[in-house]
Amino acid sequence: QKGGYKHFMLKEIFEQPRVVADCIAGRADAVHGVRLPELDGLAAPKRLHIVACGTSYHAGLWGMGLIESWARIPVRVEIASEFRYRDLILDKDDVVLAISQSGETADTLAGMRRAREMGATVIGLCNVVGSTVSREADHVIYTQAGPEISVASTKAMCSQLTLLLLLALHWGRQKGTLPADAQASAVRGLVGLPSVLEAELPRMREVAQSLSRKYSSARSFMYLGRGVQFPLALEGALKLKEISYIHAEGYASGEMKHGPIALIDPEFPTFALALHDDLFPKVKSNLEEVQARDGRIVAITHPGLELPVDDAWVIPEVWGPLNSFLVLPCLQLFAYEVADYLGKDVDQPRNLAKSVTVE
Ligand code: F6R
Repeated sequence: QKGGYKHFMLKEIFEQPRVVADCIAGRADAVHGVRLPELDGLAAPKRLHIVACGTSYHAGLWGMGLIESWARIPVRVEIASEFRYRDLILDKDDVVLAISQSGETADTLAGMRRAREMGATVIGLCNVVGSTVSREADHVIYTQAGPEISVASTKAMCSQLTLLLLLALHWGRQKGTLPADAQASAVRGLVGLPSVLEAELPRMREVAQSLSRKYSSARSFMYLGRGVQFPLALEGALKLKEISYIHAEGYASGEMKHGPIALIDPEFPTFALALHDDLFPKVKSNLEEVQARDGRIVAITHPGLELPVDDAWVIPEVWGPLNSFLVLPCLQLFAYEVADYLGKDVDQPRNLAKSVTVE
């Protein structure tokens, strides 16, 4: 069942090229652009509320930036367990996007039920066909990632990112707000992504393996990112803590100086996302501050960028937000290799269940 892999988690990480290809099949190509027949008859929302937990929540945070910038829709991203108990302000002009791999997460379901009671339209973005989210939503978009067995979510997030990107393009086109060339560049990039991922994954695993030997004795890790990579920093920290039991915090790089930098010393390494984008100079100066406190740094970065770090993990550069699809498996593989090296039960981490059907 594990297809020759030592763990389901590893198998599922390596399935991501296929996951991207399946997500876009029939939904995006160079000739037709983007089509989401699941949303036929639904106008672009006036306001969007994304409601989810854990990894799915991180995917939602990532989608927010794209939907705002391409479709000019105000987006809030909410932790479902908070959303469900707030004095919500929602009406029929609001759309709630419930993101859930399992489609059975109790808090996400409760949040979408409240939203429907208040007259909002609910779109379910889920993986498990026939799940409660898919049955109760007004519109369902399936992520088609295939069964995810490992408790730690990996390929499901990749599929959620793909669909969120398609949603941003779909609504942007519907509203006429898409920046020139965004659709063509995004679709071209997405179509090419599976082969880039396929080629890179084995090398990513080797780098993750060698870094895991160097850093697995750390008791704590700081993950930093800005802009579109900030949610990925949160996800990297979540993956590390849930399967290796090493304490990790994900932060927006710019928040470091507002408190967390006090933690930095030679025993508290930082995992930075420092890619070639507009915010790179800012990220670089944040990392200089970490280095000045003798903090060790691993950074995922792009060719040709100069950084004050101990270990530069250079990955190929692709188009704009698609770079996150290459960052994600690096973070997953690093957490995987650390956990495996430490002898942890990777697929069944302690205290966790695959779907959280209780509050
Ligand atoms: C992390 C993880 C969890 C889930 C969360 C939501 O690896 O698996 O954080 O992402 O429990 O689950 P779904 O997406 O099924 O609602």
